[in-house]
Amino acid sequence: MADATELPDSGERLGPEALRTLQLERLRASLRHAYDNVPFYRESFDRAGVRPEDCRSLGDLAHFPFTVKADLRENYPYGMFAVPQDRIRRLHASSGTTGRPTVVGYTDGDLSVWSDMVARSIRAAGGRPGDKVHVAYGYGLFTGGLGAHYGAERLGCTVIPASGGMTARQVRLIEDLRPEVIMVTPSYMLTLLDEFERQGVDPRGTSLRVGIFGAEPWTERMRQEIEERFAIDAVDIYGLSEVMGPGVAQECVETKDGLHVWEDHFYPEIVDPVTGEVLPDGAEGELVFTSLTKEAMPVVRYRTRDLTRLLPGTARVFRRMEKITGRSDDMVILRGVNLFPTQIEEIVLRTPGVAPHFQLRLTREGRLDALTVRAEARPDAPPEVRDAAARAIAAAVKDGIGVSVAVEIVEPESLERSVGKIRRIADLRPR
Ligand code: DLL
Repeated sequence: MADATELPDSGERLGPEALRTLQLERLRASLRHAYDNVPFYRESFDRAGVRPEDCRSLGDLAHFPFTVKADLRENYPYGMFAVPQDRIRRLHASSGTTGRPTVVGYTDGDLSVWSDMVARSIRAAGGRPGDKVHVAYGYGLFTGGLGAHYGAERLGCTVIPASGGMTARQVRLIEDLRPEVIMVTPSYMLTLLDEFERQGVDPRGTSLRVGIFGAEPWTERMRQEIEERFAIDAVDIYGLSEVMGPGVAQECVETKDGLHVWEDHFYPEIVDPVTGEVLPDGAEGELVFTSLTKEAMPVVRYRTRDLTRLLPGTARVFRRMEKITGRSDDMVILRGVNLFPTQIEEIVLRTPGVAPHFQLRLTREGRLDALTVRAEARPDAPPEVRDAAARAIAAAVKDGIGVSVAVEIVEPESLERSVGKIRRIADLRPR
């Protein structure tokens, strides 16, 4: 018999009916909380002609207006908060690489729910109380480090708060402190892989058993690569600061079939990215979240820009979201064809002779946009293998995605390495 800490928590043990009942009750309270306490929501509901009490079923949520990133920016810094400042215990912020940053806040209650959700996530990933968890997500205003940290403590793990960077030291810490679990972006895990090899340490020989990877899109191919090279289970964690941080959805290690959305706290919808129409489960579109229990900063129908679909639950009662294809912001439209960096990742990672490092360069040639895939050669790949790799990648993009791209195979170690979230696209087009 498994001990109690291995069993799903009370939220995870709800039956489908009880879950829907709880969601509706929480949704109604959350809409009321937003309407009564945030002028932005009062105005946007009034403009749309809806009141919190109009939400009588989960489907009624579709009548409520969306919230977008620009709304958060316009209300920067504190305009979206629904509680007095002395109840706000912590702030986080987005990096603000595109325009004004956004700030998010948490009450004591929010921080506690967040820890519970990350603890639930780590357990679903195969972590157990007593495990040592190496956290290499960045600590600071980014939600990755501190979010993972408090969740691991909540589960009863020993946390190693490594944060991002100082890569040589990370390898040393993993060797010496012997963590069973690592939480890091998948791209930084590859940077660590290089460093293990540089130091002559066998990455398959570490104490690591499970890697919990997220904060950026990654593919099944990348999972295979990381699992084989490190001899670990690699599972996906999803989240966003506007909704909470890491721990909004998590893949279960026993099924590795997409991420269970912790929908007792975050209600997901999929909408058509252009029309905003709600799509049925199974259809691909933009993921939208409504918080069900957040106090400091409730969000109503927040448009994530992330593209995925909702599928029925398997290892848990909650619905799953498929691994994210990409963000609508990261979609490149090349001569009328939509292309995501994850599609290129699939191709690069299955091509012999190239390392799992690549970058996409977007330029303008005359009136047309052009894309160059720059992929790094494996150190042992001779010139003829590199040439064949370039041809294979160009052909696979042409056949699979339907557009011509240039491919450059660059020297080993020449592409910039990630220390956190990787930027795949270098947009060199004139403004
Ligand atoms: O990246 C929170 C996080 C930290 C999640 C650590 C997982 C692990 P933001 O900086 O607000 O928050 O960025 C959120 O990152 O809308 C997605 O586009 C992307 N993202 C996050 N997790 C995944 C994932 C954190 N598993 C944005 N797969 C989201 C694909 C992801 N994209």
